[in-house]
Amino acid sequence: MLIKRSPNGIDPPLVSDITPRAVFESRRAFIRQLAIGSIAGGALLEMASREAFAQSAAVQKLAAKPNPAYVVMDKPTTYKDATTYNNFYEFGTDKADPAKYAGTLKTRPWTVAIEGEVKKPMTLDIDSLLKLAPLEERIYRLRCVEGWSMVIPWVGYSLAELIRKVEPTGNAKYVEFVSLADKKQMPGIGSPVLEWPYVEGLRLDEANHPLTLLSLGMYGEVLPNQNGAPVRIVVPWKYGFKSAKSIAKIRFVKDQPRTAWNIAAAREYGFYSNVNPGVDHPRWSQASERRIGEDGLFAKKRKTLMFNGYSDVASLYSGMDLKKFF
Ligand code: MTE
Repeated sequence: MLIKRSPNGIDPPLVSDITPRAVFESRRAFIRQLAIGSIAGGALLEMASREAFAQSAAVQKLAAKPNPAYVVMDKPTTYKDATTYNNFYEFGTDKADPAKYAGTLKTRPWTVAIEGEVKKPMTLDIDSLLKLAPLEERIYRLRCVEGWSMVIPWVGYSLAELIRKVEPTGNAKYVEFVSLADKKQMPGIGSPVLEWPYVEGLRLDEANHPLTLLSLGMYGEVLPNQNGAPVRIVVPWKYGFKSAKSIAKIRFVKDQPRTAWNIAAAREYGFYSNVNPGVDHPRWSQASERRIGEDGLFAKKRKTLMFNGYSDVASLYSGMDLKKFF
């Protein structure tokens, strides 16, 4: 994120492929109708998802029930854009690197160790994670600290479902997410740009917020490697770097974790990193954003919304000075 930055902090526009995923687009129109109440009923919903999935290409599909409570109405980013413009420094610092190089990541077998301040530590493989709770499709905005954003239909369930199973002890105040760091599979690990493994963290109440998603897929399919396969978190009211990819460990701890970007540049990347148009990055404004896919010459930037528009989370921070705890 620190690298190859233009003076205003905005990356040059990408030539985006505007071919939408027919499958996803049809589902999305359906969800929108559902949300405005012009269609009702679980049976119809089932029918539509089945039909949409039947059209899907030969990728590993992941059936999930759309959850209309977690849908933003913005037009979703195309699959092509969402999978070719990525930040995943384990595979390089260029936005195109993850799509080029993450093919080397072996995502099965894969286990996630859940440890630390919990009564029931466990190590779960991907199949167990897939079965842990019903999979939902949720359409979230994700706003990168660099000034761009996307809208992605994720597949997963609230991280709270997993937290409940491991029973945190009274000492658990924070949750730390540790990404895989394997030099053999991840060419970027040789670079000193960040301290490896990539670590992120949340306060326990943030981790337990129903919006915090443990994601195993997107666009009705398993996660592409470049997007954090086989399992990542998505915290939609925080800058994208809080959403750690390819997680190998989830640790419940007493003290606020040291996180990768905070270690790299503490003045620039705070622990909280809530999307906040009123708190600028030291080197650029955070008041607006460029939606990936809206890159035309005359495309207007969008105003960035407090908590990325997820105002429900405000109560997590009542009484806190969010300029100080940025
Ligand atoms: N997780 C790991 N392990 N390594 C990373 O470099 N980059 C973060 C976050 N998670 C990153 C990571 C940043 S800066 C962003 S903006 C999002 O992933 C990007 O997610 P996306 O590529 O799926 O849009």
